[in-house]
Amino acid sequence: MARVAIVTGGTRGIGEAISIALNGMGMKVAANYAGNEERANAFTERTGIPAYKWDVADFDACQDGVRQVESELGAIDVLVNNAGITRDTTMKRMDRDKWQQVIDTNLGGCFNMAKAVFEGMLGRGYGRIVNIGSINGQAGQYGQVNYAAAKSGIHGFTKALAQEGARSGVTVNAIAPGYIDTDMVAAVPEDVLAKIVARIPVNRLGKANEIARGVVFLVDENAGFITGSTLSINGGQHMY
Ligand code: CAA
Repeated sequence: MARVAIVTGGTRGIGEAISIALNGMGMKVAANYAGNEERANAFTERTGIPAYKWDVADFDACQDGVRQVESELGAIDVLVNNAGITRDTTMKRMDRDKWQQVIDTNLGGCFNMAKAVFEGMLGRGYGRIVNIGSINGQAGQYGQVNYAAAKSGIHGFTKALAQEGARSGVTVNAIAPGYIDTDMVAAVPEDVLAKIVARIPVNRLGKANEIARGVVFLVDENAGFITGSTLSINGGQHMY
């Protein structure tokens, strides 16, 4: 029977590429999104993959959203925690809201979503969870104390949850993307981005598909011995 997957932030950018790739593996995919209805509708029209709207920062909405997907597509075998936002600014200008929004969405979203699917996976003896971290959670980044803290938290969250799932066939891994050619990276000021790209040994931005390939590898049924690992896909920018 086809595996069922949820990809958060799954209608745009890296998430869109992941949704399409998992669909290509024969999975039934639910692409979650929080806000951009127009892009989500266009995504569904283009790919045939259903989009489901809820905010991953909202615990109850995650519970409700997952129950809805389960009733329409079946029990969840694969969760990709990809949804993320930036509120970049220096510490001097960072207010409490910019801190909290990023922590609640990027890190809290991983907890909220894992909480909604993990017990079911343990009970069925099978699951694949992939959390999308970041090079900036590994190495830090000027102007991103909120984002770097949240993404670094994702890497710890991954290693802890992996230990709880290991005996029950549930693997939990992370991918740490570098700078990928998406709307999020396009929002970085042009001169700042040019300096960042100059430090990438491969000498270009990554492509969303190059992250999706990593997810395909980690969610494979034959990947059961890979758990608690972090796969860096960053063009050699940070070798960790
Ligand atoms: N190291 C040291 N100093 C730096 C620096 C760095 N990396 N970056 C900037 N500065 C210095 C500047 O040289 C400047 O100094 P002077 O005033 O002496 O000239 C000062 O800091 C202010 O810099 P800006 O003019 O850039 O300040 P700003 O307030 O306009 O913007 C910022 C600050 C918002 C942090 C901006 O620099 C920025 O957007 N930086 C990029 C942040 C980034 O990489 N975000 C990643 C987003 S994509 C993503 O997150 C996906 C992923 O996972 C990889």
